[in-house]
Amino acid sequence: MVKTKTTFFCQNCGTQYAKWLGLCKSCNEWNTIVEEIIQKEEKRNWKQTSPIKKPNKALKINEISFDKEDRISTNNNEFNRVLGGGLVKGSMLLLGGEPGIGKSTLLLQIALTIPKKVLYVSGEESQSQIKMRAERLQNTNTNCLILTETNTQNIFKAIEEINPEVVVIDSIQTLHTAYIEASPGSISQIRETTAELIKFAKETATPVLLIGHITKDGNIAGPKILEHMVDVVLQFEGDRNHTYRILRANKNRFGSTAELGIYEMQNVGLREVENPSEILISQKEDDLSGTAIAATLEGARPLMIEVQALVSTAVYGTPQRSATGYDTKRLNMLLAVLEKRAGFRLGAKDVFLNIAGGIKVDDPAIDLAVISAILSSSEDYAIPQDFCFAAEIGLAGEIRPVNRVEQRILEAEKLGFNKIFISKFNKISKINPNIKLVKVSKVEDVFTNLFA
Ligand code: TYD
Ligand code: MG
Repeated sequence: MVKTKTTFFCQNCGTQYAKWLGLCKSCNEWNTIVEEIIQKEEKRNWKQTSPIKKPNKALKINEISFDKEDRISTNNNEFNRVLGGGLVKGSMLLLGGEPGIGKSTLLLQIALTIPKKVLYVSGEESQSQIKMRAERLQNTNTNCLILTETNTQNIFKAIEEINPEVVVIDSIQTLHTAYIEASPGSISQIRETTAELIKFAKETATPVLLIGHITKDGNIAGPKILEHMVDVVLQFEGDRNHTYRILRANKNRFGSTAELGIYEMQNVGLREVENPSEILISQKEDDLSGTAIAATLEGARPLMIEVQALVSTAVYGTPQRSATGYDTKRLNMLLAVLEKRAGFRLGAKDVFLNIAGGIKVDDPAIDLAVISAILSSSEDYAIPQDFCFAAEIGLAGEIRPVNRVEQRILEAEKLGFNKIFISKFNKISKINPNIKLVKVSKVEDVFTNLFA
C-alpha cells in the first residue's frame, strides 16, 4: 500500500512546512497554514523526453541579442493597450476577476481573433458549451482549437501534437498534475501546475494566458506567490449591474501598469470602448444640482467622468457617508477640508457620492469635481453642463496641480466643454486652447467662481 504523505503549506506565501504552525515564519501571517496530501514522485520536465539542459552562461548586457518585434498583437486594441503593445513571447499572464464578470468571454474572444494558432484549454466548460459561446461572439478563427482537459501531462501531450503559438488555460484552479496527490485548486497543485506551465512558456517562447479565480476579498485564489511567478497580472472588474468592464494591469514586467482597457458587455460579447468619455457622462436635459464632470487621466488616456453627490440632512444622529467608485476615506477627508477650511457645515449632513458608469478611478485629479458636486448639491445650485474640473485638493484646502494638464484641457475642449477649472499652480505649456481656463488656488475661489 502506498503511504499517503502530507505536508503543510502557508496559504499566503506558499512556504512548505513539515508540521503545523500557528504563525508562518516566512510571511508572519497567523492561521494561514493548512495540511495537504502530497505524493511526490521524482520531478519530471514538462516534456518528458527533453534532455537535461546544459547550464546557462552569463553574458554582458550588450552581448545579449533580442528581437524588437517579440510581441504578438492580439487584434484587440484595449487588451494590447493594457499589455503595452501585445503579448510578449514566452510570457505568462494571469487574469483575475469576480465570477461571471467575463473572464472566459474575454480570453475566448481574444483566442478567436488573434491571427495565430491558439489552444484554448478549459477545465470548466465542455467543448459544446464553448462552441455555443463562440457562436454568440460571431468570430471564427479556424486556427483556434478547444480542449477540455485538467491534467497538465495530458495538456502538454496535446500541445506537443498541436504546436500552438498561444495557449489559454481556463482556469488554473481546475488543473492538476499527476505528480502531486492533492486536489485541484489546492495550494500545492496551483503552485506545481503554474511552475510546469511557466517552464513550458519559457522554453518554447509560447505565451500562456491563465484565468484565475478570486477569493471573496478580491485576491487571486491560491498562494500569493502565484502573482510573483507570472509576468503579468490583469484584473477584470466592473459592477455587474452595469455593462462596463475595466481591464487593469496590477503587475506588468513588460509595460506600464497605468493603462486601462474599457469594454462594454453586450449580447454578442465584449465590445471595445474606444471613446470612453462620451459614454461616462450621463445624458440629461436639465441642469441638475449635485453633478460635476472631472477631466481624469487613466494611463495615457483622458477620461471625462461624471461625479454625482447627494447631500441631505441626517435623519439619525450619526451622518452617513458613502461612496461608490471612490475611496470613502478620501471623501471623509475632503468633507473635513470643506468644513474646516471653507466653513461649510456638513458635519450634520448625509453625503452620498457616486461615480457614474460603475467604474473606479484612482486619479487624484477627480478631487475638485468631487467637492464641486458636493457643494452643488449642498447649495442646490446646478453647475452648468459645459464646466469641468481637474485638480487635486490638499489638506490645507489648497488646489493642487495635476500631471499632464494640457491633455485634459484638450480632451475637454474636444468634447465641447467651455470652462475647465484647474489649479493656479499648474504650468501649462505649448497649447492655445479656445476653452476658458479658470485658475483657482483655494476651495473658496471655486465656490465664488461657481455660485457667486
Ligand atoms: P463569463 O465569461 O462566463 O465570466 P467568468 O468567466 O468571468 O466567470 O461571463 C459570463 C457573463 O457574461 C454572463 O453573466 C453572461 C455574460 N455574457 C454576455 O452578456 N454576452 C455574451 O456574449 C457572453 C458570451 C456573456
Ligand atoms: Mg469562466
